[in-house]
Amino acid sequence: MKLRYKILNSILAVFVLLIGSVAIAIGYTEDCEPAAATASKNTMKAVIYRCYGGPEVLEYVNVAKPTPLDDEVLVKVHAAGVNPLDWHYMRGAPYVMRLISGIGAPNRQTMGVDFAGVVEAVGKDVTKFKVGDSVFGGRSGAFGEYLTMPETKAIAQIPANMTYEQAAAVPIAAITALQALRNMGEVEAGEKVLINGASGGVGTYAVQIAKYYGADVTAVNSTRNVAMVLGIGADRVIDYKKDDYTTQDIKYDLVIDMVGNHSLTKNADVLKPTGRLVNVGSIDKGNWIGPLIKPIQTIFINPITDPEIVGFVATMNQKDIEILAKMMEEGKLTPVLDKSYPLAETADAVAYSETGRARGKIIVTVK
Ligand SMILES: NC(=O)c1ccc[n+]([C@@H]2O[C@H](COP(=O)([O-])OP(=O)(O)OC[C@H]3O[C@@H](n4cnc5c(N)ncnc54)[C@H](OP(=O)(O)O)[C@@H]3O)[C@@H](O)[C@H]2O)c1
Repeated sequence: MKLRYKILNSILAVFVLLIGSVAIAIGYTEDCEPAAATASKNTMKAVIYRCYGGPEVLEYVNVAKPTPLDDEVLVKVHAAGVNPLDWHYMRGAPYVMRLISGIGAPNRQTMGVDFAGVVEAVGKDVTKFKVGDSVFGGRSGAFGEYLTMPETKAIAQIPANMTYEQAAAVPIAAITALQALRNMGEVEAGEKVLINGASGGVGTYAVQIAKYYGADVTAVNSTRNVAMVLGIGADRVIDYKKDDYTTQDIKYDLVIDMVGNHSLTKNADVLKPTGRLVNVGSIDKGNWIGPLIKPIQTIFINPITDPEIVGFVATMNQKDIEILAKMMEEGKLTPVLDKSYPLAETADAVAYSETGRARGKIIVTVK
């Protein structure tokens, strides 16, 4: 064998070995160790996870109550919202996310992100919030009685016309809908927008925010949710149990896809040449690349189609939380609430989210 082929073979072998080792490492799941009792005298109830797995790994325990840093507020949580993100973290799946969340076991044991509650204390440098303010936002640890949060991150005042449960239903799902429509989809008044997965957490906000921007909205959801989705402002509904929007002869300016149940090329076919497809999520499960298939395909298909095809990951920030608060205050955005669970039953709430059958948002109440 020529030397250059030998070198190439060696490089290939090292590469395969490296990929194999990374795959074994990220696919490895440590056993759950018994919970160590907290040494702190100042404790609170919280739901934590010490190992990856199903809802049975979620534990309702006493943990140390956090203390705010100089630039942080201490929030007494009244309600928390549940998102698919929570069970992705709980399972550490797809495995590639363990590169961030922790290899073998989670680096951070707190759970939940969306919260609403009351500011109980403020650090000495905090100027924007004061004790007693009703606030909502996104921060790891929402499934607990207290959390701390830098005042400049994704936190804002709750509008007076909203309950804690409604406010807790907003952050991740509504920010995702807002950024999908405004930043990625560049929606404009009068455009024809199709929302696939209109009855879920993100979808119920996408319908309302698309209407806020003056779009003509076609929602795709199942029979049982038709009335609810028309009630939040959709101009028409395609019931996916009866019709397939990809086989209809209607062209859209923008498709926001939370479901990913049609190929990218089929979705591109329902778009005008200047149209945009924003892939938000997917019902594909799986530990390896299941949910990542569409984002990977997007990279290859976008350059060869006229419509723009993009995927994205929403980013939490204060400005957008404030924009959403204003929309709610003006009555332009009303969260759709599904079931609610007490904090001690958070595992049931997350299990329900995993069924993929939520109608709007699932809530955990923290009393
Ligand atoms: N990219 C990002 O930054 C980002 C951020 C947040 C969420 N996501 C992802 O976006 C997706 C949606 O999130 P979510 O919070 O809205 O989830 P969700 O609340 O669990 O969505 C559930 C909804 O999906 C509907 N659905 C299921 N199959 C459907 C189909 N074939 N056609 C139309 N609707 C269908 C269900 O309606 P029926 O029960 O009636 O079928 C249910 O109302 C998830 O994959 C999530 O991980 C991504």
